Amino acid sequence: MKVAVITGAARGIGRAIALRLAKDGISVAVSDILTEQVKETAEIVRKNGGKALPLAIDVRDEEQIKSMFERVVDEFGGVDILVNNAGIVHRSHIVDTTSDDFDFVIGVNLKGAFLCIKHAAPIMRRRGGGVIVNISSLHAFATLPNLAVYASSKAGLVGLTKAAALDLGDWNIRVVAICPAAVDTPMLRDKPTEEENIAAANRWKKASPIGLLLQPEDVANLVAWLVSDEARGLTGVAVVLDAGVSADLQVRKIPV
Ligand SMILES: NC(=O)c1ccc[n+]([C@@H]2O[C@H](COP(=O)([O-])OP(=O)(O)OC[C@H]3O[C@@H](n4cnc5c(N)ncnc54)[C@H](O)[C@@H]3O)[C@@H](O)[C@H]2O)c1
Repeated sequence: MKVAVITGAARGIGRAIALRLAKDGISVAVSDILTEQVKETAEIVRKNGGKALPLAIDVRDEEQIKSMFERVVDEFGGVDILVNNAGIVHRSHIVDTTSDDFDFVIGVNLKGAFLCIKHAAPIMRRRGGGVIVNISSLHAFATLPNLAVYASSKAGLVGLTKAAALDLGDWNIRVVAICPAAVDTPMLRDKPTEEENIAAANRWKKASPIGLLLQPEDVANLVAWLVSDEARGLTGVAVVLDAGVSADLQVRKIPV
């Protein structure tokens, strides 16, 4: 039985990835700082007949990451798949963004992924290989005002994907990134009022030539394929999953 470790799996995209991989017969270790909600993810997996191990970890903490992988090896025997999904968004004008803001967001979104890769890869090597999927963002390539740190962290994740693919290729480990446009999760719906949340969702829908606001399951389905042998030719690349949003150069389409 294959084993996947998914970070940020308490809700949103991470939870959808856990449910989808479990449906494909993969044992899932689900980790997050939201202890109760990540237990709930594991419960749902188990109710659906899958195997799940919930773990309370903060991806900024290397010791916690090390013990997470030790627990997974003890419980499931190894690791074949790592999905670096944990992430936070931070909105502020670049000149109002503090050094601490920068360190915090980079610490979760970029350093967290680096640390997980560093500690997962030797374990995957012992199994003869594996696949690492980094959940980056369309903001790696084109962004909006007030997202300097977030965009930097997600662009960094694309660079990390390429570098890791080179270093880990000899161990038969593929490393890929997914760059989604807006996905309908608590992260997208974090505005002060429900009206603003609906407006944001509608703007993204309108910006898609097929009128689609991506759902967490759309990302999960792509992860499921990327970790399968059908995707064996893909490593060191960032796959854009954006419902066509970036194909359209009408700059007025997403009023900010
Ligand atoms: N929702 C979107 O529009 C969108 C678009 C593109 C990319 N993404 C990326 O997808 C990923 C998942 O986002 P989501 O939309 O499901 O958001 P979300 O906020 O619903 O989920 C993110 C999860 O990460 C966890 N997390 C945050 N900090 C952590 C830490 N230090 N250690 C461990 N876990 C931590 C949170 O508790 C949460 O459960 C993120 O990396 C995000 O940047 C989201």
